[in-house]
Amino acid sequence: MWRLCYHPVMTKTRVTVSAAANIALIKYWGKLEKGLNQPATASLSIGLEDLRTTTIIERIEGQSDVIDFNAPETARQRILDFLDLLRKQYEVQGHFHITTENNFPTGTGLASSASGFAALAIGFSEILNLNLSRQVLSQLARIGSGSAARSVFGGFVEIIPADDAFASRIMPAEDWPLAVIVAIASDGTKTVGSSEAMKHTAATSPYYREWLRSHVQDMDDARLAIVDRDFEKLADVAEHNCLKMHGAIITTRPPILYWLPATLAVMHEVRQLRESGTPAFFTIDAGAQVKVICPAEHAKSINARISELPGILRTIETRVGGEPEITAS
Ligand code: DP6
Repeated sequence: MWRLCYHPVMTKTRVTVSAAANIALIKYWGKLEKGLNQPATASLSIGLEDLRTTTIIERIEGQSDVIDFNAPETARQRILDFLDLLRKQYEVQGHFHITTENNFPTGTGLASSASGFAALAIGFSEILNLNLSRQVLSQLARIGSGSAARSVFGGFVEIIPADDAFASRIMPAEDWPLAVIVAIASDGTKTVGSSEAMKHTAATSPYYREWLRSHVQDMDDARLAIVDRDFEKLADVAEHNCLKMHGAIITTRPPILYWLPATLAVMHEVRQLRESGTPAFFTIDAGAQVKVICPAEHAKSINARISELPGILRTIETRVGGEPEITAS
């Protein structure tokens, strides 16, 4: 469980943090011009209990940070930039050795930047005994990656555009036991990263304006569906919001298309399941993978159906959860 440690005298030399990925049911897609990943849209997400980044932060002697992360150079550079920013903001001297690992594919549309930057923000606060509130941790994580603001919490989480936007929890995971089946349709890294694709959508999609306009209603409907635990209503608004985001993405110039044939196969399967009375809905982020959400008791049978679809490489079955953990020092 989350625990905030406060050690007024000692600073630590090493901490280990685990933060979970999250998926948005109402999407963040678009940024305000003022920078620092200030979102142009509100978003609402669920934390994924078993898709985690584990990050070890150690203080080191030396003139530069060391990053151990099996990822492309651009991803390592984002971490270095983030550390520089934190050092400046909190007037911290010294450098860090960061060892970070995801237990799920990185850079493939499975929100590894969300869990990664949340773990870093939490670990930074912990190693320096800054005792930052979750609001501030969320604001810091957002600067690393917009969706990371939400991974500072587990359960059902939202973020509303504001001066220095931060996430807050709508409802804990235990209040509505939902399962998530992640269908992996590709192990390749996504063709266009989220940041770049968002910019391209805002600049070239004729539907971007409508995407922004209709967002508030989607948020209101989804929040209410969660509080009422109304699965059908949540399924309806979440699929609608996801398809609207992809509608705007597909209509960019030149167009971006994240879907593969296997992505569509899962979408059709979910529709068929619903027509035959099994509650389930899908959502897709900036990649080919599909996440299928269902009440926990249906997870096994739905997973069996999805795993057999042509083009699906494998599935990961998890549940809504994802509270960050400070696992060791
Ligand atoms: C489709 O948080 O990865 O997953 O702020 O540029 O790092 P940056 O973008 P990122 O975008 C996530 C986009 C999304 C929708 C969502 O998670 O809300």
